Amino acid sequence: MIHLQGITLVFSGPAGVVCAINDLSLRIRDGETLALVGTSGCGKSSTLKIINGLLRPTRGAVFFDGERLDASNVFAARLRMGYVIQGAALFPHLTVRENIAVMAKILGLPKAQTAERISRLLTLVGLDEKRFADQYPLALSGGEQQRVGVARALMLDPPCLLMDEPFGALDVITRHQLQNDFARLKQKLKKTVVFVTHDLEEAFKLADRVAVMHQGKIMQVDAPEKIRNQPANDFVREFLRL
Ligand SMILES: Nc1ncnc2c1ncn2[C@@H]1O[C@H](COP(=O)(O)OP(=O)(O)OP(=O)(O)O)[C@@H](O)[C@H]1O
Ligand SMILES: [Mg+2]
Repeated sequence: MIHLQGITLVFSGPAGVVCAINDLSLRIRDGETLALVGTSGCGKSSTLKIINGLLRPTRGAVFFDGERLDASNVFAARLRMGYVIQGAALFPHLTVRENIAVMAKILGLPKAQTAERISRLLTLVGLDEKRFADQYPLALSGGEQQRVGVARALMLDPPCLLMDEPFGALDVITRHQLQNDFARLKQKLKKTVVFVTHDLEEAFKLADRVAVMHQGKIMQVDAPEKIRNQPANDFVREFLRL
């Protein structure tokens, strides 16, 4: 469904040149959940942004459902990829309901249909509509905000979900609860999911395949058992030990 072909991403600024992604190729299959793991700064978020078209690669191409992404089709493709941004990043001046409705409003979808979908999504992510829908994000805990971020990404029922550390920065209990919720959702929604985490255990628990990244490259992409039993190189071996 998603094909990254020889992606290189270079940032250049006053501080010099940073190669965030270095000749990375990856195919993500229809319906699979793939985890991107690696240490801070290895290029995980950048890879998601490249898939989503928020960043354009310096070299290489992105294919979504066989179509090469370019300026002419990126907006349409983006509507088919829900994006859970790192740190939830809700609009602080919009209520929970308005945050979830953002894209529906831009697209001019009927209000009644939007309202009904929001009710369903809040139930799906385990938030009580009466209590939360009309609150502003600041009144919500971090875990509750993360759930709203997931609901917002699901609003248009996209076939593909990109999630950037959706369970990051949460206490262990809330994180485990959200992970279990996600495992349940995954079965129910049958979407293609790419999620970023720096927690290898989380990746092993939730993903069909795990891609271990280091310095903008993929060191190994395999099923969890295979990574555990046959690490491809010293970096992966070391990463497993951490
Ligand atoms: N807009 C930018 N301008 C310049 N450099 C950037 C920019 N965005 C990212 N980088 C650099 O690119 C590299 C990869 O960043 P990226 O955000 O993809 O890392 P990450 O793996 O998601 O890290 P983390 O786990 O900390 O979120 C880093 O060295 C970062 O400093
Ligand atoms: Mg990141």
